[in-house]
Amino acid sequence: VATRGGERPPTVTAITDAIERSPSADKLAGLLQRVAAPLKRVPNGRSLLSGTVLGHPLHPLLVTAPIGAWTCASVLDLTGRQPAAARSLVGAGVLMALPTALSGASDWLDTEGAERRVGSTHATLNVLATAVYGASWLVRPRRPALGVGLGLVGAGLASAAGWLGGHLTYAMGVGVDTNAFEAGPTTWSDLGVVPESGAARLAEVNGTRLAVTRLDGRPAVMADRCSHRGGPLSEGPVIDECFTCPWHGSRFDARTGAVRRGPASVPQPVYETHEVADAIQVRREEVRALRTNAV
Ligand code: FES
Repeated sequence: VATRGGERPPTVTAITDAIERSPSADKLAGLLQRVAAPLKRVPNGRSLLSGTVLGHPLHPLLVTAPIGAWTCASVLDLTGRQPAAARSLVGAGVLMALPTALSGASDWLDTEGAERRVGSTHATLNVLATAVYGASWLVRPRRPALGVGLGLVGAGLASAAGWLGGHLTYAMGVGVDTNAFEAGPTTWSDLGVVPESGAARLAEVNGTRLAVTRLDGRPAVMADRCSHRGGPLSEGPVIDECFTCPWHGSRFDARTGAVRRGPASVPQPVYETHEVADAIQVRREEVRALRTNAV
């Protein structure tokens, strides 16, 4: 385990550090890639599985179902009450694990490097947990003690997987709106470029990168950093009056910032524009500009 300034990192940090660098996790990722890649070819599959339709990432909503069912089953198992209800909860968790895994796989397909390695470990632990819970459900009628034991093993695996899922989000920023910490000018500021009709261009205003185009003669401006994973919208085409992310193909309405196609689920910050003499000025005036984040 590497030391920092002669000090050993906390055990949990050492474990996540090791997974982030692990060649074995890379091999797992290669295997999972072959299993999950067909999701990319399902029409509208990415938009459905990533939560574009809801306007909220889907995976964190779904994970509560199997975790909730399995946690309740553990409480019943540990208190020795209502074995039939405990078995039903174990089975319900196994059933809900399938859509949860599909939504997670869809998100994972757009990760790279360390986050990809942590994601593949998270997924593998969850598959193991689901298999062990499935076995627990099967054996409970004939061998209840073994079923309870398997359930507790499943709880341990699911807890480890959940911890890595939290690490992916809170420490690595997978699944969060990448514009959450982006401020942008809220008073009229010169854009500095004259957008061309039909093409996306990059502008930089007060240190904020903006994607710019012109629709029906009027400029349309939004944050350049894609809310999904940070792709540069100014480097993609403008299709059907939408900026198109060159990384995973999300489309954002150039006038409103609304997501027209996933995998992104959060709209883009958009900027008001007006033309003064030969210059174009912009400011961020939408409701979300009121979010004041010290970072
Ligand atoms: S970064 Fe993934 S769609 Fe833009």
